[in-house]
Amino acid sequence: MLGQNQIFAAPLAGISDKPFRQMVRFFAPDAALVTEMISCHSLVGRHKNCLRNFDDYSDEGLIGAQIFGAVPELMADAAKIIEAQGAKWVDINMGCPVPKVATRSGAGAFLMRDHKLAEKIIYSVVRAVKIPVSIKTRLGWDAEHRDWADLVRIAADNGVRWAALHGRTRSQLYTGAATHPDVHDAPIPIIANGDIKTCADVQEMQKLGYAGVMIGRAIYGRPWLLGELSGVATRPENIGAVVMRHLDLVLEYYGAKAGIPMFRKHLAWYSAGMPNSGDFRIKINQISDEKSLKQEILQFWGCVDAI
Ligand SMILES: Cc1cc2nc3c(=O)[nH]c(=O)nc-3n(C[C@H](O)[C@H](O)[C@H](O)COP(=O)(O)O)c2cc1C
Repeated sequence: MLGQNQIFAAPLAGISDKPFRQMVRFFAPDAALVTEMISCHSLVGRHKNCLRNFDDYSDEGLIGAQIFGAVPELMADAAKIIEAQGAKWVDINMGCPVPKVATRSGAGAFLMRDHKLAEKIIYSVVRAVKIPVSIKTRLGWDAEHRDWADLVRIAADNGVRWAALHGRTRSQLYTGAATHPDVHDAPIPIIANGDIKTCADVQEMQKLGYAGVMIGRAIYGRPWLLGELSGVATRPENIGAVVMRHLDLVLEYYGAKAGIPMFRKHLAWYSAGMPNSGDFRIKINQISDEKSLKQEILQFWGCVDAI
């Protein structure tokens, strides 16, 4: 079994915000968490409408903040801000395929096509901070260009400490089964990512030489999963209490106006597969005040004792 610090929560834009990370942390006190991606432009520009630009990481334990961008100097400045905010490491996004990031701004997955630019960014970020720097990337751009090992070599030569490898190409986006190459020969530790859900998956990755695993979508509606996989938590009996705690953290962070609409997807995941979950979803999608939402949650999950 892997130690908690070898089990990572993947960066998930729109999901792994501070309230969600606090939930994951509750069940896995020493797991390695990564923030959702943060634009270096937004971070350095101190854009006020983006709350995560101002997250204080000093109370979050083992946490890395992920930045994305295509301008080496800005990425270096962003990394310095992340370090000052208390992150334990900086992760560089080299795998995001969404057009806004990868094609229009030349960041994310685009860096798998432009290793020279990737190297410049890595070089600048590594020199800007004292905390470790990691990268997160994919197998390659498409089936004909599965050159992750070249990018990992460049990263290693420039001082990157480890890499998370999503076992899909950019052109696969998030579909099709992830495939995980053997990484025994990699020059730095590699963290396996893609379709990892169970202890058996974790063991499989260890056999292939991975130093750890990174869990993405399997954590939806299951913030206890990292704790479960590392043997320090079990699925809680009282899911209603988990939901209520998560909601309170969301309300505290975003306020009701922004927080309640944002929380609906979590409610859908928490309730998935339960009797009457379809009706519950329809109801909560029409609620925008805290009191009514809490009443619906109480009614759906029954008595909610504190966790
Ligand atoms: C909704 C969503 C948001 C994501 N956001 C990010 C992100 O901010 N940064 C990043 O590097 N990857 C991001 N990813 C990719 C995941 O971190 C992960 O690599 C991918 O989901 C594969 O892992 P999984 O099969 O365990 O989900 C995102 C994926 C999804 C589905």
